[in-house]
Amino acid sequence: GQNLLTLGDLSSGELETLLTLAQQLKAGDSSQAAKNRVLGLLFYKASTRTRVSFSVATYHLGGQVIDLNPQAMQVGRGEPIQDTARVLAGYLDVLAIRTFAQEDIEAFAHYAGIPVINALSDLCHPCQVLADLLTIKECFGGWEGLTLTYLGDGNNVAHSLLLGCALAGVNIRVATPSDYQPQSAIVQQAKKLASGSEIILTDDPKAAAEGAQVIYTDVWASMGQEDSAATRLPVFTPYQVNEELMRLASTDAIVLHCLPAHRGEEITEAVLESYQSQVWRQAENRMHAQKALLASVLG
Ligand code: CP
Repeated sequence: GQNLLTLGDLSSGELETLLTLAQQLKAGDSSQAAKNRVLGLLFYKASTRTRVSFSVATYHLGGQVIDLNPQAMQVGRGEPIQDTARVLAGYLDVLAIRTFAQEDIEAFAHYAGIPVINALSDLCHPCQVLADLLTIKECFGGWEGLTLTYLGDGNNVAHSLLLGCALAGVNIRVATPSDYQPQSAIVQQAKKLASGSEIILTDDPKAAAEGAQVIYTDVWASMGQEDSAATRLPVFTPYQVNEELMRLASTDAIVLHCLPAHRGEEITEAVLESYQSQVWRQAENRMHAQKALLASVLG
């Protein structure tokens, strides 16, 4: 089966094809690509957007969904992934997994032999960035010559943005506190994938925002990092997306946030609710992008 474990699995051409299909499906083209097919959702962490958008996308494509709660399964009591994966593959046609460890998703993909989709891991969030690139394409008519500035933690979303922007040819600036930079292996991979577009890491949020068309932020302390929230918040304060920062961006700049948002932390209420904010469109686009992804992997 064809997997999506990281955006590094895709070529620029495949990314373009996928998002063109997403636009066609959003515009009303119908597909029954998931007819008589079943998607399993194996989510070890909470989710609103990913869970619901994958479910509805599958229904729109004529398929069905099973919610596999790991706490109610033997895998939650120690049954090995290599056994669980092969058993589930006998029932399911595609499996979307949200877990803490990228290696677990890779192990499922290795043993399952059906398409496995990364629905968020510690390393990356490829489905999120498919929707982000679709949103940027809709807002600007293309990706050529654009600059996206990501501010905050060099986390899984930052990693997928680095890879996705490199593939799409969008310039990317990642502004993080110096101790919270994205992993260098991902930065190196993005640099290899980029053909001509810029990749800049900095600790200066103002310089990073200057003239950018897309301002992007994400939570400062995510699930599993609650204990370190108190030490993280003061370090991240200069990276807040607020009206002052937005004045440095391009006059036609949009604001993206993968959500859930924490008003008064990484983004202010005023910016989140401003005319520049495209976050609701971005959240809706999760469904359109994943519909294209499901149609593609179910072939
Ligand atoms: N952005 C995102 O992945 O949202 P959920 O955690 O609600 O799925």
